[in-house]
Amino acid sequence: MAEILHRVTLAAQDDFEGWREAARALVMHGVPPESVVWQVAGEGGDLFSAVAAMPLPPVGGDGGFNVPRGFIDIARTAIAHRDPERFALLHALLGRIRDWPGALADRADPLVRRVETMARQVRRDMHKMHAFLRFREIAEPDGAVRFVAWFEPDHHIARMNAGFFVRRFATMRWSILTPEVTLHWDGASLCEGPAAQRADAPAGDPVEQVWRTYYASIFNPARLKIGAMLKEMPKKYWKNMPETALVPELIAGAQAREAGMIRTAAKPQQGHDRKAALAALAEEARGCTRCDLHRHATQTVFGEGPANARLMIVGEQPGDQEDLAGRPFVGPAGQLFDRAMADAGLDRGSVYVTNAVKHFKFVPRGKRRLHQSPNGGEIKACRWWYEQERLVLRPRLTLAMGATAARQMFGKIVTISAARGRAHRLEDGGEGWVTVHPSFLLRVQDEADRREEYARFVEDLVQVKERLTALD
Ligand code: URA
Repeated sequence: MAEILHRVTLAAQDDFEGWREAARALVMHGVPPESVVWQVAGEGGDLFSAVAAMPLPPVGGDGGFNVPRGFIDIARTAIAHRDPERFALLHALLGRIRDWPGALADRADPLVRRVETMARQVRRDMHKMHAFLRFREIAEPDGAVRFVAWFEPDHHIARMNAGFFVRRFATMRWSILTPEVTLHWDGASLCEGPAAQRADAPAGDPVEQVWRTYYASIFNPARLKIGAMLKEMPKKYWKNMPETALVPELIAGAQAREAGMIRTAAKPQQGHDRKAALAALAEEARGCTRCDLHRHATQTVFGEGPANARLMIVGEQPGDQEDLAGRPFVGPAGQLFDRAMADAGLDRGSVYVTNAVKHFKFVPRGKRRLHQSPNGGEIKACRWWYEQERLVLRPRLTLAMGATAARQMFGKIVTISAARGRAHRLEDGGEGWVTVHPSFLLRVQDEADRREEYARFVEDLVQVKERLTALD
């Protein structure tokens, strides 16, 4: 076993800055991860006090090497994982990145995958806290009301999540108690207290009124699937939640509300409202678990483009590069798409570009991740996001590229060759067009055939552009 030379004591379980400073110094001084013991102050005693600890000379400035933004983001999240090995794993990954800044893109690397999995699990836990935390009301000595909630996160996420609750309940006084830390907001400032126990939180019913304003504001009747709701909601949170009792009432009003929602969406919206609505959708989609694809994908790749775009172009699903970049059509198919758009005289910047399915589906093969087409269930699960995008955008014209996009657009399987080259009336009143997917063009082996197919694809885009002008 390697001799332990260094002991690092972090201020807290989620002390990212402390870890970062120490890890940079360790990497700069060539200290391998197996020669370091990571501890958190005040936790588990000083197990390694007998170990000689060599102080690390400080590393100034940026630590002597540039760290890609992507690593900082992933490390900041993964640091909150409950796995005690995370500090060492991130140290190892930082070392690798120093030698090869592209190391994070090596998706087949077990270390990269492990760190990504940790970050994903932390993000899901944060999302669960947003969704499942419930406040109870207590009277403060000055007669004011304070809302108190007990929550047991799976990871060290309480502090990381504080900003969300400050924004959401900015005008209330509240406290969130967890087994690790307590957070208190008085309407102006946030402060922290020691760990709590369940018994410290008030018992009894969660606050109906607060819940009503919060939950009713996020309750979306179009998403109403009770089975799925209960499945997604871990059992341990059920008892905290009054909406398990209120669901029937919500269901009763659901249809009326849905009709209302559609009416509201049908009204011409101000540009900034649509922009905000799209941004809120994209944010919500980050935590999407509607199908299993989120488990292995790096992130949700939502649509992008102006909120007042008249043309919506739909692809199949993000590919390997899109999954890493978090943006649609940036890889090889995206480059071909960009070229064809330019050749057709269409400006990508004025078009809303999205995918039928918002997570990358793949099978690992050695160091590569091979694309797999989404199945019917996955397409259907993602329909929710596609429909929401349409409700906000209300595009005049929609172009589906490939069979998956066409299936999402029509809600059923269609043959591209049969549907291509003409306008279709869509259920929501828009007009739909169909063409091939750019990756089909990349797969055509014969060069002459490929040129011909490319020209047809550009022709389809030109036709769409002309139609859009005609609809003006
Ligand atoms: N293929 C797609 O369908 N969408 C992308 O975003 C990239 C490749």
